[in-house]
Amino acid sequence: MSKRVVLGVSASVAAYKAADLASQLVKSGVEVFPVMTADAARFVQPATFRALTHHPCPIDVFEEPFPGEIAHIWLARHCDLFAIVPASMNVLARLANGLADDMLTAAALACTAPILLAPGMNTGMWDNPATQANLARLRDYGYYFIEPTTGRLACRTEGVGRMADVPTILAAIHEMLARQDSWRGVRVLVTAGPTREPLDPVRFLSNRSSGKMGYALAEAARARGAAVTLVSGPTALPRPGGLEFVPVETAAQMRDAVLSRAAEQDILIAAAAVADYAPVEVAEQKIKKEAPPAPNSGGAGQEEVGGLTLVLTETDDILAELGRRKRPGQTLIGFAAETEHLLDHARRKLESKNLDWVVANDVTQPGAGFDGDTNIVTLLGARGEEISLPLLTKREAAERILDAVTATPGEQSPGRATS
Ligand code: PMT
Repeated sequence: MSKRVVLGVSASVAAYKAADLASQLVKSGVEVFPVMTADAARFVQPATFRALTHHPCPIDVFEEPFPGEIAHIWLARHCDLFAIVPASMNVLARLANGLADDMLTAAALACTAPILLAPGMNTGMWDNPATQANLARLRDYGYYFIEPTTGRLACRTEGVGRMADVPTILAAIHEMLARQDSWRGVRVLVTAGPTREPLDPVRFLSNRSSGKMGYALAEAARARGAAVTLVSGPTALPRPGGLEFVPVETAAQMRDAVLSRAAEQDILIAAAAVADYAPVEVAEQKIKKEAPPAPNSGGAGQEEVGGLTLVLTETDDILAELGRRKRPGQTLIGFAAETEHLLDHARRKLESKNLDWVVANDVTQPGAGFDGDTNIVTLLGARGEEISLPLLTKREAAERILDAVTATPGEQSPGRATS
């Protein structure tokens, strides 16, 4: 059966390019269902898209182009990919804020298939903090993007905001469609986020992990059709749908959640920043400055000079334990967050923890590591592979990491994974 794409066209001069895209998609065997915003229809007529795709091109959410069906729900359910080309500032804002007030936004917001946005707008609108905040939110929600390029804009200015060209968008759509189902039947467990090791009822030791890298990996695996379990430390990210979500707090809880599910997984990806040390004792009451607990051999103690000495103990290394338990056919991917000697330290982790791949990130580099939306990673494989990736969004980096695993010949590849 041919793949189905809903093509949403919103108001930007680049709307005319969407007609070319529709035509090329149809020629390549994709069934295209167009929808437009009312303002986009001032740039290009719906009749153009109807003629090119042989399907209706609704605008208003109350139109009934599919007899007996609620149109926006039908479109949302019957597509493998939803592409919004061009995506205007207005549409980005409406999607980021859940405003389903026309056919395009209602269908997109009801859609559980991957959604690809190709923004196109004036530089000032692109740089506007409201747009940037909406983009950040949409990235967190799992939307895919084809970034606009820099060039001459219709408003006779030069700058960023020009929608990517049609061949680039076409290639991205075909790549996403090809990836779908490629991991169907594969079971993947991902760890993400920080852990929190309590000191007392109100304080904990933790780190700067936001969970973005791990969530991006879980969502990328889910988009390929895998059955995904996401074991997550506390994060501020929205909880992704369509997967088993296991919230944990401490390293010990993460260990139990992971190890109890490990045997049935085909691929395990440890992106979490697990605490290496936890307090030996957790104070039952809030540790007070003025009334320190008596220093003891284990817990938190306060010295006479006013300092506080914490006694910590090493946590269990979850990844190392997974390496010891690894069964044939199972693929184990760890991360290495390093501040020096990146590849040496990462290679040591690859070998000592019996990993198939280690993803090394130098967390001192701008744009890499903790918290941001981007990362710069090098993948080291147990068979001597070394793949250095440029600065990428965490979602793109996740796709490239999964691609590397897919490309690995032998029994570790998805599709060959055994139970
Ligand atoms: O969450 P983000 O803000 O998006 O940031 C992403 C990230 C920087 C957290 C991520 O890219 C990353 O590098 N994760 C691993 C961080 C880390 O703890 O690295 P490590 O070198 O200390 O640990 C090596 C590996 O052992 C990791 O896969 C870790 O999950 C695992 N480990 C570590 C300690 C422990 N007790 N148990 C473990 O399983």
